[in-house]
Order: sequence, then C-alpha cells, then structure tokens
Amino acid sequence: MKKKIALIFGVTGQDGAYLSKFLLKKKYKVYGVKRRSSIINTQRIDDIYKDINFKSNFVLCYGDLTDSFSILSLIKKIKPDEIYNLAAQSHVQVSFEVPEYTADVNGLGTLRILQAIKNLNLENKVKFYQAGTSEMFGRTKEKFQNEKTTFYPASPYGASKSFAHWITVNYREAYDIYACNGILFNHESPIRGETFVTKKIIQGLMRIKNGNQKKLFLGNLYSKRDWGHARDYVEAMWKMLQQKKPDDYVIATGQTITIKEFVNKAAKKIGFKIKWFGKGINEKAINIENKKIIIECRKRYFRPVDIDYLKGNAQRAKKLLKWSPKTSIDNLIDEMIQYEL
Ligand code: NAP
Ligand code: GDD
Repeated sequence: MKKKIALIFGVTGQDGAYLSKFLLKKKYKVYGVKRRSSIINTQRIDDIYKDINFKSNFVLCYGDLTDSFSILSLIKKIKPDEIYNLAAQSHVQVSFEVPEYTADVNGLGTLRILQAIKNLNLENKVKFYQAGTSEMFGRTKEKFQNEKTTFYPASPYGASKSFAHWITVNYREAYDIYACNGILFNHESPIRGETFVTKKIIQGLMRIKNGNQKKLFLGNLYSKRDWGHARDYVEAMWKMLQQKKPDDYVIATGQTITIKEFVNKAAKKIGFKIKWFGKGINEKAINIENKKIIIECRKRYFRPVDIDYLKGNAQRAKKLLKWSPKTSIDNLIDEMIQYEL
C-alpha cells in the first residue's frame, strides 16, 4: 500500500515535533518545512534521526510562510495527502511588538497555502489542517467556549488567527477543499518554548532550587488557562483529517486554573514551601525555608490587554472524533519537571 505523505509547516516547533513522531509511528512519509535560521534549531526533532525506522521517512525542506513561491513549489513537488499548518509567530505578547509580521505569517501565510492548493488543482486531493486557537475567543463572556462561541480576539495574534480560521472556512465552502480548523486551547510539554509561562515557571523554579537563578519574574498571575498536553492534542489534529467531512473542532481539557495556582502546584512538586504577599505588581512569593523572595512581578510581562479566562468544551470532538485528553495537569507538570531534572 502506498505510504501516506504529510507536509508539516512549523516542524521545528513544539507541536511540529510531536506531530512528526505521531505520523511516523503511523507509517507516514513526513516532509517538514523549516525556515532559515542563523543557528541550527532542530533540537526538538533531532531524535527522529536516531530512530532507524523513522529517519528514512522524514525529510526536512526549507520554506517560509511569508514566501508564496516556496509554499507553491513545496506542495507541487511533494504532492502531500495531508498538509498541517502549524507554522506561526505564536507568542501573544510578542504579537503586540510585531503586529504586521504576525498578521503576515499567521493570517496571510494560511491564505498562501490554501491558494497554492487551489492553483495546483489539488482541491480534491489534499486535506488541510489549520492550527486555530482559543485566543480567537479572547475576551468572550462565555463560561465554556465551544465551536459556536463568537470570536473576540484580544491581540494581533488572536486577530491574525481569526482571519486564518475564516479563510480556511471560506476555501472549504468556495472550493470544496477538505480543510479543518482545530481550535486548540493551551497545550504544553517538556519541549514547550521557554518564554511561555508554564515552561518559564518550571524552568525558573528548578534553576532556583539548584542555585542557578535567584528569582523568577512573572506578569499577570490571575488569568486562567485550560492546559493540556501537546502529545494528546496532535492526535486530535490527525483525527480531524480522517473524517468523512471536514469540520472545525474545539480541543480542550475543560479544566481551568490561574497562573498562580500553576505556580503553587509546580513549587510544591519541586519541594518549595512558598508564601505569597503584596498585591498587583507588588505581589511576591517567599521561600519559607530561607525567607528569600523567589517570585516577583514585572510590568514588562503584562500585556496591553490580557485574556482573563479560557475554558473549553470539547464535547463535539469527544463525540465525533472519539478524542479526549489523556494527561491531567498534575501529570503534565510532573513530566515537565522530570525533563528539567
Ligand atoms: P511554536 O513552538 O512556536 O512553533 C511554531 C513553528 O512555526 C516553529 O517551527 C517556527 O519556526 C515556525 N514558524 C514561525 N514563523 C514561520 C515562518 N514565517 N515560516 C515558516 N515557519 C515559521 O508553536 P506550537 O506551540 O508548536 O504551536 C503550533 C501552532 O499551533 C501554532 O500555529 C500556534 O499558533 C498554534 N497553537 C498553539 C497552541 C499552544 O498552546 N501550543 C494553542 C493553540 C494554537 P522556528 O522554530 O524557526 O521559530
Ligand atoms: N508568557 C508569559 N510570561 N505569560 C505570562 C507571564 C510571563 O512571564 N506571567 C504571566 N503570564 C500570563 C499571560 O499574561 C497569559 O495570561 C498566561 O500567562 C499564558 O501566557 P502564555 O504562556 O504566553 O500563553 P498564551 O495563553 O498567551 O498563548 C498560548 O496559548 C494560546 C492558546 O490559547 C500560545 O501557545 C498561543 O500560541 C496559543 O494560541
């Protein structure tokens, strides 16, 4: 039987790495697109080359979502069965600093892939996955967000992803492309980028424990996030492309906790006894054992506007995709700590 071919944009990222390994286990031939960087940044996927069963089915190619030519020629040459668009300027706070670039990569980049599929007359041959996000719900007042919740993005990142979402729906309806939006809530892992809050907290606390760092500086401690494990979420991406009809699905755990609660859980597991005091920007945590302040807030980590509350309802994915999250927040934190050790 002919091997299925997958093309992954954003292969060097957290999800790109998990998805590549997931698809290689399913015997796909995987082509991963990386952009040019001044230093090699393939750490998350280097282990693929150590696996004799994987390495012959894994090919890295250069491309960039801001470059239509590279997208078009890659799709033309590879003729994939499935395309996963995971590439993005994915940092919400950074999107306030580089809004135009964020819109270009995340919004127009998605359009460039869809238009390449159309220009190459592959509408009936390729299945397309778009990495949507709970950030599109933004400042909604809905207590449980699902596929019907109205978008109210609260950052250039959220707005760019909302464009990507709707252009994916539009190409599906206009040209009959099998195109799906995954609306994924926060998902983390040991290989999460170091400037996202979960990784920053765990890495920071571990360094403090080992005497390699004195303090951890954070921003808004009171926003709530619905955190799952990236390993579980890439399975949902694949499942979306195996259905009879393309559709959009929320992927979430249905549990939500504050950043402060996440810190408390991680600190306890790492062996700290901490006590909080102060308010707002002056809120701090001390290590009860030596009375040293180990966590402080800094203005630079607060966003011009933040999303206070995200909690997803993934009932539809549960029913139609037979998908549900396997990793609890406690197991996720344990795994992230173990990795730092
Ligand atoms: P990530 O770790 O930041 O990875 C992003 C990937 O996109 C990296 O491979 C990055 O390359 C690549 N990229 C950035 N700009 C590019 C460009 N101009 N052309 C080509 N590639 C480019 O993000 P992630 O956590 O794996 O998330 C994967 C996708 O899901 C993203 O689209 C993100 O917005 C979305 N999402 C993530 C979450 C989450 O909680 N993780 C939730 C919902 C949606 P470099 O390695 O060179 O930077
Ligand atoms: N990054 C960061 N750094 N966030 C902090 C910090 C800090 O020092 N202190 C507090 N926070 C708060 C942020 O203000 C936000 O409310 C929350 O922690 C989570 O921030 P991030 O971990 O940066 O994630 P995010 O929720 O903004 O975005 C992530 O999840 C989205 C899905 O909802 C990213 O992965 C996006 O790409 C993804 O779409």
